Amino acid sequence: MHVAITGASSGIGEALARAYGHASNRLTIVARRTERLQQLATELDAPTHSITADLSDLTTCCDWIDEAESTHGPIDLFLNNAGIQIVDPVLAVDPDRRDQLFRLDLLAPLRMIHRIAPGMVERESGVVVNISSVAGLVATPGMCHYNAAKSGFASFSEGLGWELRSTGVHVVTVYPGPIRTAMEEKARKRLGGGFADLAPTGSTEKLARLIVRAVSRKRRRVIYPRFYVVTRIFRGTAQWITDRLTPPLKDRRD
Ligand SMILES: NC(=O)c1ccc[n+]([C@@H]2O[C@H](COP(=O)([O-])OP(=O)(O)OC[C@H]3O[C@@H](n4cnc5c(N)ncnc54)[C@H](OP(=O)(O)O)[C@@H]3O)[C@@H](O)[C@H]2O)c1
Repeated sequence: MHVAITGASSGIGEALARAYGHASNRLTIVARRTERLQQLATELDAPTHSITADLSDLTTCCDWIDEAESTHGPIDLFLNNAGIQIVDPVLAVDPDRRDQLFRLDLLAPLRMIHRIAPGMVERESGVVVNISSVAGLVATPGMCHYNAAKSGFASFSEGLGWELRSTGVHVVTVYPGPIRTAMEEKARKRLGGGFADLAPTGSTEKLARLIVRAVSRKRRRVIYPRFYVVTRIFRGTAQWITDRLTPPLKDRRD
């Protein structure tokens, strides 16, 4: 199986590469940090092709796909994972950073799906896994742009899964809560104290295992840590609690 993973140079994407990096698969791993990708490729048992790409550039974000498919054949499993986060009050956010976030977290993932999924539909087989966030279910003060992008991505993903349900192509929407990665550590420091420190947190390895299982069992969504299932079911209450318990952002930036 040809597995393509964006944002594989660290965190959740790296854990997914390790989870799928065994001899029965062929991997394509994509991110900007070339050395980290190349190092990871040497540690996996699967034949792994690493491609350096800045996916926030919408004119080139799909260019890696031809190279990947001519190396390893059609993509069977697309793990749409690369993303960034901004933790700052809306009015303090530099517009270029804001636009970069929407390009990387929302527009590029949609473009890549548009480029990869038609082949899957034609072959009547394939899986697309979209990494959204619990932050796409409940807005967290200080992360409004991230909330908006992840919420849009989750809605798109859920709708796409339904649209493609009889084509042989399966879509999994993933809602991670806080997962111990560089991104989460930065956010925790910035929000530091109170609710941010109490929030149940998960590991990249466990999340990757749950995603592997959801793909093989054709589940429609993964919410992890499990605590956050209540967020999806009781969205209004979860928003009320989040509004009251999220501490004000620290003045000092990292
Ligand atoms: N950790 C959490 O608590 C959490 C919770 C919910 C959702 N998520 C989502 O999970 C995904 C992975 O995040 P993570 O926590 O694993 O963070 P991470 O360790 O910072 O990983 C982010 C990945 O995205 C890649 N990336 C960033 N900008 C890129 C760009 N312009 N072009 C190509 N690749 C780019 C990074 O690689 P390079 O820097 O090498 O390009 C890296 O491989 C993201 O979509 C994030 O929103 C994370």
